[in-house]
Amino acid sequence: MRKAANPPRMGTPGTVVDRGLEGVSVGTTVLSAVDGNAGRLIYRGFDIDDLAAGASFEEVAYLLLFGDLPTSRRLADFNVRIAASRPLPRAVLEWLAAMPHESWPMDVLRTAISALALFEPNQDEVAHPSNLRTAISLIAKTPTIVAAWDRIRRGLRPIEPLPHLSSAANFLYMRSGKMPIFEAERALDTYLVLLADHSFNASTFAARVTASTMADIFACTTSAIAALSGDLHGGAPGKVMAAMLAIDAPENAVGYVREALRHGERIMGMGHREYRVRDPRARHLEVMARDLADASGTRWYAVARALEDAASAALAESKPERPLLANVEFYTAPTLYALGIPADEFTCLFACSRMAGWTAHVLEQLANNRLIRPQAAYAGPTDRPWIPIDRREPALEHGAAALLSATEVRT
Ligand code: COA
Repeated sequence: MRKAANPPRMGTPGTVVDRGLEGVSVGTTVLSAVDGNAGRLIYRGFDIDDLAAGASFEEVAYLLLFGDLPTSRRLADFNVRIAASRPLPRAVLEWLAAMPHESWPMDVLRTAISALALFEPNQDEVAHPSNLRTAISLIAKTPTIVAAWDRIRRGLRPIEPLPHLSSAANFLYMRSGKMPIFEAERALDTYLVLLADHSFNASTFAARVTASTMADIFACTTSAIAALSGDLHGGAPGKVMAAMLAIDAPENAVGYVREALRHGERIMGMGHREYRVRDPRARHLEVMARDLADASGTRWYAVARALEDAASAALAESKPERPLLANVEFYTAPTLYALGIPADEFTCLFACSRMAGWTAHVLEQLANNRLIRPQAAYAGPTDRPWIPIDRREPALEHGAAALLSATEVRT
C-alpha cells in the first residue's frame, strides 16, 4: 500500500531533492535504460550497438510501441500503417504555407503537431488502440511536417510522401525531390534509431507529466517538443554546427574553446546529466560523420574531431571532478549537415526520431497512471499584512517599475 506523505506546513522548508532531480527516480519504465558509468543504452533490453548495426527505425518504433522486435510480416503491416499516415491534412499544409518564412522550424513543428489534434477524430477516447493509432500517425507525420516546412520556407511546393520508402529515405526525398543514395538513407536511418528513446530525459518527462493529467497524446507530444527545443536538450546540435562554422578549420579549435570558456560559455555537444563516459551514441554518429565527410570531401568531420579533442582536454582541466565528454548531439551536427540538412532544422530531426519514444512513454504512463504533481519548498515570506492600494509606498515595489517599463509593447 502507498504511504501517504503529509503536506508541508506553509513556510516550513520541506525536503528538497536535487533541483535538477539528478539521481532521483520518479517512476518506472520498461522502454529504455541508461548506464551512465558503463556508457550503455538499451531499448526494451536490446543494446543500442546491436540496434544501430541491425535495426531500421521502423523496427525500433515497433519495438518501443509493441514490446518486441517485429517479424517480417508484422514489420510489413506496420510499414503500411506508417506510409498510410504520412500525408498531412490539407488545412495543415495551407496553414504552413501562410507562416512567415523566417520562422524557426521547431516553432513551426510544435505548432503543427498541436494543430493535428483538430483533425483527429476520437481524441477524447483514451483507449489503448485509439492512442496507438494516433502514436503511429504522429511518428509518420512528423517528418512530413519538417520536410514540407523546409520546402515552403525555400519558396518551393511540398512534395507528397512516397509509401514504398523507409522513413529516412522518404524524408530525404520529400526535402529534395530526388531519391537519396543508399549511404545517405542508411546514415539517417541509423541516426533515427540512435535517438528514438532515452529513459526519463526532459522532453519525455514533460510528455509523461502531461499524460498524467489525462491530456490527449497531441498535448503530450506538444509539451515534449517544447521541452526538446532548448539548448540544454535538443537545441544543442544547431549550436554545435554554429561553433564548427565559426572554427572553420581544425587548427582554430583550441583557440575557440579557450575563448568560449574564458567568457563562461558552455561547449555545446559536451557533457551529459547521465553519462560519466562518452555517450555510446556518439561513437556511431562519429563513424557516420567521418564516412559522409570522406565521401563528399568536406572538412566538417575534421573540424568536429579537433573541437572534441580541444573541448575534452580543456574541460578535463577546468572540471576535473565531472567528466564532460561528447554527447549524442556533438556528431549529430556534422552528420546531418553532410546530409544537406540546415543547422536550424537539426532539432526537428531529433523530434522525428524521439516521437517514437515519446508516444511509447505516453502509452506506458496511461497504462498505470497517477497524477505527477510534486511539491515545492516555499522560500518566500508568509503572513504579510495587506496594504490598500492608496497606501503603498513606491519603495515597496522592489524595482518592479523598471521591470514593467522594460516590457513596453514595441510597435
Ligand atoms: N561546457 C562547459 N561547462 C560545462 C558543460 C559544457 N558543455 N557542461 C557542464 N558544464 C559545467 C557547468 O558549467 C557546471 O559548472 P559549475 O559547477 O562551475 O557551475 C558543471 O559543469 C556541472 O554542470 P551542470 O549544468 O550542473 O550539469 P548537468 O548535468 O545539469 O548538465 C548538460 C548536463 C547536458 C545540461 C550540460 O553538460 C550542458 O549544458 N551541455 C551543453 C549542452 C548540450 O550539449 N546539451 C545536449 C545534451 S544531450
